[in-house]
Amino acid sequence: MSDRSLLVVVLAAGEGTRMKSRLPKVLHKVAGRTMLHHVLAATRAAGATRTAVVVGPGREDVAAEATRIVPDAQVFVQTERLGTAHAVLAARAALEQGADDVLVLYADTPLVRPETLARLRAPLAEGAAVAALGFEPEDPTGYGRLVTSGDELVAIREEKDATAAEKAVRFCNAGLMALSGKDALSILDRIGNANSKGEYYLTDAVEIARADGRAAVAAKADVDEVAGVNSRIQLAEAEAILQKRLRLAAMAEGATLIAPETVFFSADTVLGRDVIVEPNVVFGPGVTVGDDVVIHAFCHLEGAQLAPGVSIGPYARLRPGTRLDEGVRIGNFVETKAAHIESGAKVNHLSYVGDAHVGANANLGAGTITCNYDGFSKYRTEIGAGAFIGVNSALVAPVTIGAGAYVGTGAVITSDVPEDALAIARSRQVVKDGWARDFRAARADAKKK
Ligand code: UD1
Ligand code: CA
Repeated sequence: MSDRSLLVVVLAAGEGTRMKSRLPKVLHKVAGRTMLHHVLAATRAAGATRTAVVVGPGREDVAAEATRIVPDAQVFVQTERLGTAHAVLAARAALEQGADDVLVLYADTPLVRPETLARLRAPLAEGAAVAALGFEPEDPTGYGRLVTSGDELVAIREEKDATAAEKAVRFCNAGLMALSGKDALSILDRIGNANSKGEYYLTDAVEIARADGRAAVAAKADVDEVAGVNSRIQLAEAEAILQKRLRLAAMAEGATLIAPETVFFSADTVLGRDVIVEPNVVFGPGVTVGDDVVIHAFCHLEGAQLAPGVSIGPYARLRPGTRLDEGVRIGNFVETKAAHIESGAKVNHLSYVGDAHVGANANLGAGTITCNYDGFSKYRTEIGAGAFIGVNSALVAPVTIGAGAYVGTGAVITSDVPEDALAIARSRQVVKDGWARDFRAARADAKKK
């Protein structure tokens, strides 16, 4: 990694009207994390030394997300939307602090990779003043065109200001730009707004640098990396691109995905080696899966840690705070939440285990339910190691089942069960010989009358 200091300026002041949303555009999520988070994660991985985020007026929510991800990020408000160069200059105080390199990114371009940022920035170390990132979209309409001559970038022409010859250029401006830190402010301050939109165009930096006798260059990126998100449709397209990337990465790291196109990851999903994921599985945020885990079909996981050798599903739902130790088995139609289940324990069928601790090798029979909520507060259930809970038992929390205890089938357990004890908590069965026959006869008589 470069030892040059890097100031990143992320433009997040867009209104995002085409999203038709109450939520600011850059807070919409792709693979479980906000677009702004994706961009900040990429810039952090690319070695950002300082981060400035430019937000629109009143966008405390965007500012809060920026500082949640990068706690020392500086947030600047662009009070009027007068163009991309004007937006960068909203971060003037950050630019004045100086950096070897400056990178400008859009927060609505969430798929850019750290490697690409490094490639974009590299020419600055060789003396270039400006580097722009280009790509070749299927339809170039609406994009600025990169006018090149050999290796040099001559100009970036916005479509509205382009000649017919310039419009024929297919190499388009992705919007990301690298500027030499010592020249950035002087270049930006000379950008005017004498163009068809009356905006201060960041893209004019190219011609200003060249007029100073400095070099401008273009790097190229894959279309899939620089896709900007302006609508829900493009949000779904970005999701599809990222999911494909995450599936390929999971397989490259040693997981088997039987039907990769049916498995959905979060950007932070961590899978170990020799994990098998059957079809139709959704990984929400915060899931870590150890080696040799099997995730059967139709599972939904979020905020869960699975130790090596765990097996879940089919049809299991692991909610936040689930921690499964080595070799735990969670079967079909089981839901867990804020539950630590120790090694070798089994919850095989139709159960809810919430706000609970289950000791090693305990066995929870079909239909075991922790009754953890009384409509006001949540209460904990403690199940000791090696305990055996008979089927269809309701454990009314707060309650403790001692290690090695037995709970008979169909129990409603409302008080603690000591270690190695048997608890039976069901009404006694009553048998009345001939009762059903007599009942039917009486009903038939009544009907005849
Ligand atoms: C810009 C580029 C164009 C490029 C395209 C790629 C300029 C002049 N044009 O055009 O060459 O092909 O992006 O998508 O730079 N923003 C602000 N404040 C502003 C204006 C913009 O924060 O005052 C932010 C927007 O939120 C957005 C980004 O900058 O994230 C780009 O702005 P937008 O108006 O969409 O630029 P384009 O006209 O699409
Ligand atoms: Ca745009």
